[in-house]
Amino acid sequence: MTVIVREAKPSDKKPLMDFVTKTWGGHDYIPSVWDEWLRDKDGKIFVVEVDGKQVGMNRVRLLRDGTGWLEGVRIHPAFRGKGLASLLGKKSMKYASRFGVSAFRLASSSRNKAAHRQVAKMGFSEVARFDVFRARTKSRLLRGGHVDKLSPEDLGKALRVIRDSEEYRAGMGVYWDAFVARALNRESLSELIAKGYVYSARDEKGNYALAVCGPAREGEEVWLQMSFLCGEPALCKKIVSRLFRGSRPKRDENFVFLPKGSRLSKSLKVIGLKKYFQMVVFEGRLD
Ligand SMILES: CC(C)(COP(=O)(O)OP(=O)(O)OC[C@H]1O[C@@H](n2cnc3c(N)ncnc32)[C@H](O)[C@@H]1OP(=O)(O)O)[C@@H](O)C(=O)NCCC(=O)NCCS
Repeated sequence: MTVIVREAKPSDKKPLMDFVTKTWGGHDYIPSVWDEWLRDKDGKIFVVEVDGKQVGMNRVRLLRDGTGWLEGVRIHPAFRGKGLASLLGKKSMKYASRFGVSAFRLASSSRNKAAHRQVAKMGFSEVARFDVFRARTKSRLLRGGHVDKLSPEDLGKALRVIRDSEEYRAGMGVYWDAFVARALNRESLSELIAKGYVYSARDEKGNYALAVCGPAREGEEVWLQMSFLCGEPALCKKIVSRLFRGSRPKRDENFVFLPKGSRLSKSLKVIGLKKYFQMVVFEGRLD
């Protein structure tokens, strides 16, 4: 068996998508992002060939916080259990290390035990878990309530509120850009504010809550995602209600990411959000 791992090229699409489209009962997102991933200069797709046949892929992204993000690993069912996913992982980490990246992260649904064992074999360990809540109906969301969209002069205060929060610590300082966990720091927060994605609510007692919320996209799919939330629970309920109530009808599936065990979970349940799944974040290094 001759095994080669190499960078992807356009002609890999058909042989790979032939089996990738069958993953998860045909609900895999990779076919809808393949072309974009292949063009992206901040990431690289790798392909594993066995005896000249393309049987697996993955991708590494170079995030601006200096970490590498591994994703999209898919191995043809007939070639699983032969160490190919780990081979792709190592090769892509080696590639990223040329750009100074030494720490890597990835996320996977808590149900995907095969993936968890595979990444553990690569030396990765779990560093955080997030509950993903879904709002499918607006019926229990609160009415009224005022929220403010933050402006650039709010950056300093917002950063302090975020860094002092339980959610920031429990969630290792990240916000979710679709399904990528990115560092929530001065640079990213300032960009999020400029895009109009950061909101706050306050009450007369001086309590405060803050949310990062905007459209998230994967291929053609777009939804509204609250990718960071912290602050006083009653005010958090108001922010979620206000933003989700006002979302366009098309976006009838809105998500909130919260670190597992957050005291805000209860508040989300009260306004009708349901826990949908859990994302587990793993971290590892190239040895
Ligand atoms: C998860 C996946 C990528 C693993 O690929 P793979 O090439 O079979 O993985 P490897 O052979 O490198 O795995 C090494 C280890 O992972 C674990 N593992 C892999 N598949 C497993 C399974 N089905 N059940 C339990 N453990 C599994 C084993 O511990 C294995 O080591 P061992 O054989 O020495 O016990 C592959 O099953 C796949 O493509 N699944 C569908 C897509 C997917 O889930 N991707 C990950 C999304 S985050």
